[in-house]
Amino acid sequence: MDIPFNIPYTTGREIEYLEEAIAKGSFSSCGYFNQTSEEKLREITKTSEVLLTTSCTHALEMCAILLDISEGDEVIMSSFNFVSAANAFALRGAKIVFVDIDPGSMNINPDLIEAAITENTRAILVMHYAGVPCDMDRIKRISTKHSIPVVEDAAHCINSYYERQHLGTIGDLGALSFHATKNIHCGEGGALLINNEKYKERAYILRDKGTNRRIFMQGNVDKYSWVDVGSSYGLSELNAAFLTAQLENVDDVTIKRQIVANDYVEKLEVPAKMIEIGNGHIFFIKCIDEADRIKLMIYLNQKGINVTFHYVPLHSSSYGIKNSKFCGEDKFTTKESSRLLRLPIYPEFRNASLIWTAINNYYDRS
Ligand SMILES: Cc1ncc(COP(=O)(O)O)c(C=O)c1O
Repeated sequence: MDIPFNIPYTTGREIEYLEEAIAKGSFSSCGYFNQTSEEKLREITKTSEVLLTTSCTHALEMCAILLDISEGDEVIMSSFNFVSAANAFALRGAKIVFVDIDPGSMNINPDLIEAAITENTRAILVMHYAGVPCDMDRIKRISTKHSIPVVEDAAHCINSYYERQHLGTIGDLGALSFHATKNIHCGEGGALLINNEKYKERAYILRDKGTNRRIFMQGNVDKYSWVDVGSSYGLSELNAAFLTAQLENVDDVTIKRQIVANDYVEKLEVPAKMIEIGNGHIFFIKCIDEADRIKLMIYLNQKGINVTFHYVPLHSSSYGIKNSKFCGEDKFTTKESSRLLRLPIYPEFRNASLIWTAINNYYDRS
């Protein structure tokens, strides 16, 4: 038996919607299914401005452009992060300043942010790992006190909330991912959430290759032209058709994943594990240390159970060593990421008991 780590979710309606998109004959980013997906996302996130994008990576790149990040600017984030969060800002010449994480959630430790702020700090990027929220009250207070905008990397966060506010809608800007590994997906896709009115108009221009095509389509100018920098960040209508089908099932997917996660929380007897499960996007345990993680992975792989670790801290990766700075002590980032192990989790997952039984047996014997 082989238990895969992830099975990308499908609803059964994707083909119907793809056929409908083809029949409508509109394939680029301004079609019917872009509208239905954006509408559904507005309903889920309760934010007024949602722009579908080709990926979360590109939504984050748009954030860096919207914040006018340039050479010499600094951006604060945690180093236990996906490379896109750092690259979006590094691409514009920013220096990435890392601070340590909270070992329980693996999210940025808000207590460490203020010490990393300098006169060059232009943004604070927070990533809600596994759809479990960062302490947004604290982070917003720091942001307001120092007038530094907050970007939320909410790649993992569809249907995840902080005090009833959808993640990605609390900072100035937020980014969601609809990559095939996420709870809701369209192969590759993302969305930019704009929570600060001042970025709204320019965001559409950036997505439309630096043109004012949107206002042309609305009939407000008679020709559209080059008005700013920009790129091709709009989502194809085919991906959007697929995404609409997925978004219609968001609650069902979330509940099913949360059931699996809760089962893991209840049954696993391990050195440490997730307690707060968010939207059930990721479930991780912590092994004793890295050597123990390797042993457990081999043990599980021999039983056909596919498990995996996650981010290699950015500050210790080859590009990060040369191009970033870690502010303060790396007390938890390296240690905790090297013992973190992710377990299979997907909506129709029936084998959780095999996994927790195998892991509990491993720790009973060792
Ligand atoms: C935290 C985080 N941010 C951003 C991304 C990039 O997402 P995308 O593949 O949609 O560009 C990922 C991808 O997994 C991620 O984990």
